Amino acid sequence: MRGMAESPVSLRELMTPEAVTDPYPLYARLHRHGDPVVTDASGAHVVSGYAECHALLRDARCGSDETRSTMFEAMRSRGDLDDKDAALLAKAPFMLLDPPEHTRLRRLAHTCLIPAFDGLPERIARIVAELLDTAAAQESLDVVGDYAFPLPVRIICELLALPQADFPRLGRWSGALARNMDQAFNLDEEARRDGREARGAILDYFHRLIPERRARPGDDVVSQLVALADQGAADTDEVAAVCSLLLVAGHETTVNLIANGVLALTSDPQLRETVAAAPEAAKALVEEVLRFDPPLHFRTRVALADIEVAGHVVPRGATLVLLLAAANRDPRRFDEPDVFRLDRRANRHLGFGIGPHACLGAALARVEGESALGAFARRVRNPQRPAGPLTYRPGLAMRGLAELPIHHGGITAA
Ligand code: HEM
Repeated sequence: MRGMAESPVSLRELMTPEAVTDPYPLYARLHRHGDPVVTDASGAHVVSGYAECHALLRDARCGSDETRSTMFEAMRSRGDLDDKDAALLAKAPFMLLDPPEHTRLRRLAHTCLIPAFDGLPERIARIVAELLDTAAAQESLDVVGDYAFPLPVRIICELLALPQADFPRLGRWSGALARNMDQAFNLDEEARRDGREARGAILDYFHRLIPERRARPGDDVVSQLVALADQGAADTDEVAAVCSLLLVAGHETTVNLIANGVLALTSDPQLRETVAAAPEAAKALVEEVLRFDPPLHFRTRVALADIEVAGHVVPRGATLVLLLAAANRDPRRFDEPDVFRLDRRANRHLGFGIGPHACLGAALARVEGESALGAFARRVRNPQRPAGPLTYRPGLAMRGLAELPIHHGGITAA
């Protein structure tokens, strides 16, 4: 058994604003280095290989509950986590839980989401058409603020039947939470405080909503969750945590998928023509964006036992950083990984993860992405990005453009 190779790229370096703007050369450096699993100075084990990420995501010895890691224990004994942090972590959503709680709550969420997806493609297409109709009246648009953001927000809020007046604060809270996903490696005090406040505020919001839905149930996901919980499937804290997870997971990621897809379309007129001409091409576009420039760059896991991977042993309690976005560019798995190609066969990227925690909203996100990107390619004439660097919001885990202003030569009718 070999000793673990030291990482040629530190996690600290990966979390800097420069790396968030363009992390791909750093991923390429990891691949050139050749070791698919390396150790970071923080003690975390960083996995950039596709085969290794794929296997670890499906491995029951890899837990999602970060409180089981030695890194977390160390933070607690250093006093980096206070009682408020601990109280919130005790109410973690199921993405951060292990069986049996994870299995039970994921099944509950799945049961309530499936019927809600009925009729959604038509609804999504209508919202997309409305957003482009509004944009047609102006010469320029900010793709992030005016197009990519409003669609998923409206859809997820419709699924949960949340009033439109609440969108601004829900959006603010979920943005703060998304930024906080880097927290273990990027202890920006302000981001941590904002994240903690946002998490508390979202949970309070749903705790207030749950009795209302219990008294006057509708056919929305929150009402379904409450009904099943009242039959013994979950307690109120768990329902609030499921609702907050759906809100945040369905919010931030899809915005980035649409914005990254439009960025690809504005960079390549040929790609735009192909996508405009055939609905199938919009599907391939979404899959290639999820591989080439995915919304979620990494997820963490905790080794619940000593795990042997790529000839190394990851000791029990160690934190694993699974670099999904690097795995998607692994030259051992994808030909010409740094080239954006619509014609990839079996494009089995890790953009939605895989295994027991694989994305529960993948079908919804795909429909939103295909609808928004297909309509953009068909209707927006000659979109041009003004010269200048792209600006990204802080955070690598949930990586996304802060804005994407474009000029266009007109938007045709739907
Ligand atoms: C392009 C958009 C999206 C991307 C790239 C994405 C990506 C992911 C990834 C990579 C995971 C796996 C996390 C892990 O293994 O730890 C995940 C989990 C999850 N996603 Fe998504 N997601 C998207 C949209 C959505 C939407 C629209 C919803 C909700 C309606 C959603 C709900 C969830 C939930 C509930 C989980 C947790 C599953 C579990 O832990 O069992 N996602 N997502």
